[in-house]
Amino acid sequence: MPDPRSLLDVLRHKQHEAEQGGGPTRITQQHKKGKLTARERLDLLLDEGSFVELDRFVTHRSVDFGLDQQRILGDGVVTGYGLIDGRQVYVFSQDFTVFGGSLSETHAQKICKVMDLAVQNGAPIIGLNDSGGARIQEGVASLGGYADIFLRNTLASGVIPQISVILGPCAGGAVYSPAITDFVFMVRGVSYMFVTGPNVVKTVTHEDVTFEALGGADVHGATSGIASTVYETEPECLAAVRALVGLLPANNLSDAPARVTDDPVDRREESLLDVIPQTATQPYDMHDVIGAIVDDGHFTEIQRDFAGNILVGFARLGGSVVGIIANQPAVLAGVLDINASVKAARFIRFCDAFNTPLVTLVDVPGFLPGVAQEHGGIIRHGAKLLYAYCEATVPKVTVITRKAYGGAYDVMSSKHIRGDINLAWPTAEIAVMGPKGAVEILFKDALREAADPALEAERRIADYTETFAHPYAAAARGYLDDVIDPRDTRPQLISALRMLSGKRSRNPAKKHGNIPL
Ligand code: HXC
Repeated sequence: MPDPRSLLDVLRHKQHEAEQGGGPTRITQQHKKGKLTARERLDLLLDEGSFVELDRFVTHRSVDFGLDQQRILGDGVVTGYGLIDGRQVYVFSQDFTVFGGSLSETHAQKICKVMDLAVQNGAPIIGLNDSGGARIQEGVASLGGYADIFLRNTLASGVIPQISVILGPCAGGAVYSPAITDFVFMVRGVSYMFVTGPNVVKTVTHEDVTFEALGGADVHGATSGIASTVYETEPECLAAVRALVGLLPANNLSDAPARVTDDPVDRREESLLDVIPQTATQPYDMHDVIGAIVDDGHFTEIQRDFAGNILVGFARLGGSVVGIIANQPAVLAGVLDINASVKAARFIRFCDAFNTPLVTLVDVPGFLPGVAQEHGGIIRHGAKLLYAYCEATVPKVTVITRKAYGGAYDVMSSKHIRGDINLAWPTAEIAVMGPKGAVEILFKDALREAADPALEAERRIADYTETFAHPYAAAARGYLDDVIDPRDTRPQLISALRMLSGKRSRNPAKKHGNIPL
């Protein structure tokens, strides 16, 4: 029997070898690119000393193209589990220093193992992606490995939160795993996502495009909407992932962690009395309303740079986490268009899947008219938002601050689609359309025939405004539960959410619905 101490030396040697990944030269190259290594990233992501590694001695099985001569312990991905603020998470971190972080059969098996553990034990999975995609030398085995991951992403969806952090290239089908996950974090100048890179684009479409312009962080943050949030540096990004995890439940059977707050639950907010401008067409920033209402003014916004006409994100009210959806009058007057509908629908579905109550702040002039929107499918995409709100069974509390016009009134968590508590400020206007548009349609002939059409229009608009541009017709029918002093919005919301904390609501049994995709 060999001396156990000498066996320990072998173990330490192998552990050290595994920690080196592709070796010191490649680690230096990684740093020169301004990137951290797979392990440095995990150190920043997880509570100090909490990481437990699995499968560090796994190597690939392939022998083709000289791979039998290059077996590297860990096979290009560091996997395991650890803690974020003392809460369990499962992680994988791809190591670009090993075959460019490319995904082999065994690399995929390591990822699948931690994904299975995450689902089985009900805790979030966080993937740090830095990979050249399928390992070319392995052919179909690596493609199969991706498919194994995609299947797990899909089955885990709605069961545990899934977070993808893109910290390098993410090419080919590799983008589809992050695309299925709930949140995608990116870093400027470091993260890239595309189905086909610039070289293939040039060959197929003859377009000249850089990595950055094709699939950089800003493209996905502002144009495609793939990125949930975009950061300047990796440490900033990983700190933000930690913060987000603190707002999420571990799984679909638990609640987001509540926190004791020093912000009084009965705090009245004077500023809310003056937030609505004198004229109905004047914009204001809904961030100011959210900031005034939520605990300590903290709003963790998701997709901040995409479809700014609607705001979505997490905040706390009286210490409990809520998902906020708010029309933003400061951008496109807060109109609902294709991107806004899709953005909000996906967020609502996340919150509903993970027991997070919805707070909706409404100031919406309607759906965006126009050929581009109609041809782009605003009917289908707007229906996603409607479907998501209708389907949601978590507590839903709505506050109409100003306009709630047309179909958008119905869609934005109205009483009719199971809003639990629907409130309005006295400044609310609930009608089929705004006064000017309505008068032009209803009194077209009268206006044409009037001696002074402008004066006649003014009179009719004033009349229409008096009849419809207030919350009391809706309140008279019980479509609003109350009309409140804006200054009391925070205490009113907290009271409603606490009243609803025991809510039980189920949709009819079905395999799944058919959301208009
Ligand atoms: C094997 C790979 C690799 C890959 C990179 N490497 N990608 N090895 N399979 N997919 C290796 C390189 O050969 C190199 O090894 C090392 O990793 C570093 O790569 P570089 O090219 O030197 O790095 P960089 O210049 O930073 O460029 C990174 C890159 C580029 C943009 C990712 O490597 C690249 O374009 N790779 C191929 C991307 C791709 O097309 N992948 C397949 C996508 S299809 P040496 O030893 O020379 O240093 C796909 C299908 C998914 O993923 C299936 C799901 C449906």
